[in-house]
Amino acid sequence: MKNLLISLWLLLHIATCLVAQNLKAKIKIDLERTTGEIDKLIYGNFTEHLGRCIYGGIYEPAAPEANADGFRKDVITATRNLGVTNVRWPGGNFVSGYHWEDGIGPKDKRPHRKDLAWGDVESNEVGTDEFLKFSKAVEAEPYFCVNMGTGSLDEARNWVEYCNAKQGLYYSDLRAKNGHPEPYHVKYWGLGNEMDGEWQIGHKNADDYSKFALEAAKMMKWSDDSIKLIASGSSNYVRDWAEWDRTVLNSLHNYIDYISLHHYSANRDNDHNKFMAVTTQVENAIRITEGIINEVRSKYKMKKPIYIAFDEYNVWYRAFNEQKLEEHYNMQDALVVAMYLNVFVRNAHIVKIANMAQLVNVIAPMMITNGKLWMQSIYYPLQLFAQNCHGQSLETFVQCDRYDAGDYKQVPYLDVTSVYNGKTQEIIINVVNRHKDKAIDTSIVNQFGNVDSKATAAEVNSLSLQDENNDLVQKVRTAVKEIVAGDTFNYTFPAHSFTQIKIKIKA
Ligand code: AHR
Repeated sequence: MKNLLISLWLLLHIATCLVAQNLKAKIKIDLERTTGEIDKLIYGNFTEHLGRCIYGGIYEPAAPEANADGFRKDVITATRNLGVTNVRWPGGNFVSGYHWEDGIGPKDKRPHRKDLAWGDVESNEVGTDEFLKFSKAVEAEPYFCVNMGTGSLDEARNWVEYCNAKQGLYYSDLRAKNGHPEPYHVKYWGLGNEMDGEWQIGHKNADDYSKFALEAAKMMKWSDDSIKLIASGSSNYVRDWAEWDRTVLNSLHNYIDYISLHHYSANRDNDHNKFMAVTTQVENAIRITEGIINEVRSKYKMKKPIYIAFDEYNVWYRAFNEQKLEEHYNMQDALVVAMYLNVFVRNAHIVKIANMAQLVNVIAPMMITNGKLWMQSIYYPLQLFAQNCHGQSLETFVQCDRYDAGDYKQVPYLDVTSVYNGKTQEIIINVVNRHKDKAIDTSIVNQFGNVDSKATAAEVNSLSLQDENNDLVQKVRTAVKEIVAGDTFNYTFPAHSFTQIKIKIKA
């Protein structure tokens, strides 16, 4: 009995010590302090002709899971469950050598060509009509990117005609002949991919790109003035990178609706704190680009807005030099993805499109191994955001401990956004606890609005930051529990976790 009591006391003591080690924080939200409408297109994805993304990923006619069009039903279902709103296609670096006319008409007549971007042979089995079947199946907007590397102005304009013109023109009649009499009305068109990068096929300097893209933009809009154009912005944050965006915006501002940004994160030196601060760069790039957009809009007295399309983002470093880019993600990477999404939500007034790169197998939230589809760790934060974070982004006050890591100074341990969804009458609070091993006891104060005491907390976490999923085990996943909320309540965010709290507003 005595021993039992001592053990209990010891356990209690250890527990108390552990609790005492928790950090403290405060979050204040106010649903009147809205900062911007969240565009559902920030929950986009990307499929490139690269490795096993298209062939052996979304499309695998020989697989038992294939539908009548050759697309995998399991991938379609998981894409819908992920809440993907738009899919960018066909690249990526691939697009800068892609001629879309290779991918239409009878499949047995389509040419096989060497793709110089990734070194594979492209069979052209999946082309425009097939991809549009896929985007319909997953209920997502197609977002096409045109070839500004080896492509011609006519090619760009003809693609718009093929997809969007009513019958009666050469290319729209060709579309009808290929089985689709009605226009597809593809709305989103990218003017090239990463044209600022010298790795790009047909890379150009900012002036040459801008001149070429401007002529393409004019011809594409004259073919269909309802389309939205996305200029190729910065992907390479070396010295003077913002000059690229300034040149592009000065020259294309009348024709474009968005300028794109890309960013990939890496933890090459295995430094958790530094890795957890990596999205600071993303937010800086967005703010600098927003500044240049404002400068150009004010110079030309523009009424039309120009937004940012963050159309490639993800963690990518282990499989950086592998030809197939099959990155396996762990718990730590899931936190980085949640922080990318927090950045997009926090900047919802200017970031109106975002695309995780990519959808399946290739730096992707889902993977097929041994014939089986499974979800990587990064699937879960994206799913929570895409399913729940709609409506107005809110200004969020956060008071918590901070740290320095390398060039990153004063990084808050909590990365927080909050959202007011007027349709569902809910407040959503997204919290990443960056701390490797400390939980953070947080007082959450709702300053305006009458919130319910019933709420849910969905948590993406796992015992170890290195935990990964595979085709047998899902170590990293979402766990949902009911919690007690109210206008002021306390919640402890566990170490290295992403938590999404959802609270109803009382009528
Ligand atoms: O997503 C993989 C590659 O990363 C894309 O092809 C390219 O745009 C970027 O550099």
